[in-house]
Amino acid sequence: MKYLYLLGYPLGHSISPAMQNAALRACGIRATRYLKAPTPPEKLQEMVKVLRGENCLGANVTVPHKQTILPQLDELSELAREIGAVNTILKQGGKLIGDNTDAYGFLQALRVRRINPAGARVSILGAGGAAAAAAYALAQADVGEIILLNRTLTRSIELADRLNQKFPQLALAINDWDALAQSQLIINATSVGMSPRVDESPAPKKFIFPKHAVVFDLVYNPPATKFLRDAKRDGARVIGGLEMLIYQGARAFELWTGARAPIRVMRNAATDALQEIQKPAASE
Ligand code: ATR
Repeated sequence: MKYLYLLGYPLGHSISPAMQNAALRACGIRATRYLKAPTPPEKLQEMVKVLRGENCLGANVTVPHKQTILPQLDELSELAREIGAVNTILKQGGKLIGDNTDAYGFLQALRVRRINPAGARVSILGAGGAAAAAAYALAQADVGEIILLNRTLTRSIELADRLNQKFPQLALAINDWDALAQSQLIINATSVGMSPRVDESPAPKKFIFPKHAVVFDLVYNPPATKFLRDAKRDGARVIGGLEMLIYQGARAFELWTGARAPIRVMRNAATDALQEIQKPAASE
């Protein structure tokens, strides 16, 4: 048996195992399993050794390791290096290669809803790995302007510096909170509002979302976050994080296996698993 691992901490809520194992079964790849590997920061080094073992075919990486794992890998794809975050690890000739499929997943989630961000004024809340992937994807899609909004200013500045180097023509603003109300696309790339803290929102208190905006929350659990509930109340068009999760997983699956990702199977498995974790835990 060979294994794909999901490294993160905590991992109680993840629906990736259900989605990836359904895809493996649908493609007839019976000798491989996708397993959760809950990895607190102090165990990361030990877990990277497990990834180097022959039985490991690759991995996904999630919070809080997307950035801290970089120095422990042998090589990085150009995209992972530019974004500064890894969510997928590939094995090539015994080497661990860090890659990033979040940017692809993000753009694909917009594409399936026929939203073209070209020329748009976009606000991104957050400045971590998810925000960096979204910002890179948008810069490549010829967005008009990106406004980076984050609790910690230094992280916004760092991200803006990296974006500037790669995309010198890109119009960028940092922590201009007034611009939020004039944005056509508003993205939550923070972890605020994620289950179990479902009554929190990263938007400023009493913020009124612009009616004609598209509001995209990268959080998928719960499917309707407070951020999205408020945006909907104000008349904006809302997008939850599930579709991005599915497409980043589909791209990772294709990189690991070489098989075409069975999107419909993955979407059904992810949707079922998400419904399952929404149910009140009767046995707890
Ligand atoms: P990821 O790789 O998923 O982006 P991360 O790098 O830990 O994860 O980034 C989490 C993001 O959520 C950061 O932008 C963080 O803001 P800080 O840079 O100020 O830490 C943001 N975030 C997390 N909790 C928050 C909170 N309670 N209020 C505001 N922002 C928060």
